[in-house]
Amino acid sequence: MKQIVTKAVFPVAGLGTRFLPATKASPKEMLPVVDKPLIQYAVEEAVAAGIDTMIFVTGRTKNSIMDHFDKAYELEKELESKNKTELLKILQNIVPPHISCVFIRQSEALGLGHAVYCARPIVGDEPFAVILADDLIYDKNRGCMRQMVELYHQQHCSILGVERVAPSETGSYGIVKTEDYSGTFGRVDLIVEKPKPEVAPSNLAVVGRYILTPAIFDKIKNTQRGAGGEIQLTDAIASLLSDERVLAFEFEGKRYDCGSKLGFITATVELGLLHKELKEDFAVYLKNLAKTL
Ligand code: G1P
Repeated sequence: MKQIVTKAVFPVAGLGTRFLPATKASPKEMLPVVDKPLIQYAVEEAVAAGIDTMIFVTGRTKNSIMDHFDKAYELEKELESKNKTELLKILQNIVPPHISCVFIRQSEALGLGHAVYCARPIVGDEPFAVILADDLIYDKNRGCMRQMVELYHQQHCSILGVERVAPSETGSYGIVKTEDYSGTFGRVDLIVEKPKPEVAPSNLAVVGRYILTPAIFDKIKNTQRGAGGEIQLTDAIASLLSDERVLAFEFEGKRYDCGSKLGFITATVELGLLHKELKEDFAVYLKNLAKTL
């Protein structure tokens, strides 16, 4: 088995019902935070981690994701003729030249585990990353996935990106219990999908970043429908625990839950305050607004 992570899977077939009507005809992953769609933040995080093959598991109404990562000849010609070189550069850098994008259609919405399984023919017998674009993670130094890939190179086992959440929120996440916690990571000895607070083994939540060994595929294949009637990635990971070491890793950086409206607005405000063109004017605006609240 190859020991470097070169492929990332982006499950993007979800219906995005929490953002209706915005997501009626366009994918939730294309909702922009300041000036980039959520999925582009996710791809940039993968590129920063040294990953060069992006595998999108898509569904109906998701064609704009494919278009976004394709070359836009007419637009490029237009910008070129108007000498808008900065914009042209931004456009051409959406997918750097060494990156390949692969699109797979998940014909039935059978859950996250099933979506990841759809990528099996492309991933093959290699460790790979899974990135959920809903969880936007900002880290000014290396990015979350890069930290995880670096840990993989030391540990050679599956790694789950985790974060402490309020005990009342465990029902929204895969929750892990760990042993031998050494600073930022520990071995997972239990993982449960969306437990109610009264039965949750901890408040350490998996937040949409995974590095998985290819052994996960056989586990998914043998996983029955679980929470919500779906084939859960969490259940397949639970089964992997008896064969392989899996680590929970508390990464550096701030996560925004862009699957929720409040998280999405928070990301927009905070990334707006970091944006090089906007930050000064936006900060003045916010300060003035705060005085009126
Ligand atoms: C999925 C996973 C869950 C994980 C979460 C992170 O749930 O099933 O284990 O904690 O992503 O965002 P979803 O948010 O898709 O319901």
